[in-house]
Amino acid sequence: MSERPAHEIVIASTEAEIQQCYKIRIDVFTHEQGFPIETELDHLDPIATHFLLRLTPSLTPVGVIRGSKSSESGYYKLSRLAVLKDYRQFKFGRELVEALHKWVQADAREADAGQGIGSVKVVCHSQIPVKGFYAKFGYISEGDEFDEDGDPHQKMVLKLPLE
Ligand SMILES: CC(C)(COP(=O)(O)OP(=O)(O)OC[C@H]1O[C@@H](n2cnc3c(N)ncnc32)[C@H](O)[C@@H]1OP(=O)(O)O)[C@@H](O)C(=O)NCCC(=O)NCCS
Repeated sequence: MSERPAHEIVIASTEAEIQQCYKIRIDVFTHEQGFPIETELDHLDPIATHFLLRLTPSLTPVGVIRGSKSSESGYYKLSRLAVLKDYRQFKFGRELVEALHKWVQADAREADAGQGIGSVKVVCHSQIPVKGFYAKFGYISEGDEFDEDGDPHQKMVLKLPLE
């Protein structure tokens, strides 16, 4: 494996950065994996926090993940994790998940306001070949496989500690 490129993870805060996030998703999910373009951008995009992993100093975008909070049930959702093919196996996927978890913890602690809830639930819908990736972070399968956008997925749930 070649040397791990220098990089940073930022929360996309400008329209240009959000568009860079969408472009990575379309490259990976639509062009590489064949998911429909029509459902790639969805109702969560306007309310989600988008994390962008980019190389430094060039600021070339190479990875993305999205976090959102379900207002009714109080749990968080991890979705649209993607690293461009040429940049896999550099632990960029791991770093993106860890950045998302830190954001969830900070947000949940703030909402908790000293009530001491101890942990918070994070849910993802895993493609079947990457269940083992999520399992490395402690995500556990819940329920049966189901179809999402024409492909089988597995709901996986993590109890993320707040301490
Ligand atoms: C899934 C994905 C984001 C992983 O990114 P990555 O940067 O290649 O992964 P990392 O290098 O951070 O891997 C972290 C760990 O997970 C492991 N891992 C990576 N892909 C895995 C897989 N498909 N199944 C099981 N383990 C996997 C790595 O070996 C590594 O293990 P280690 O920390 O014990 O050494 C990337 O393969 C990708 O973008 N795939 C296409 C899009 C996709 O399927 N997204 C998920 C949608 S649910």
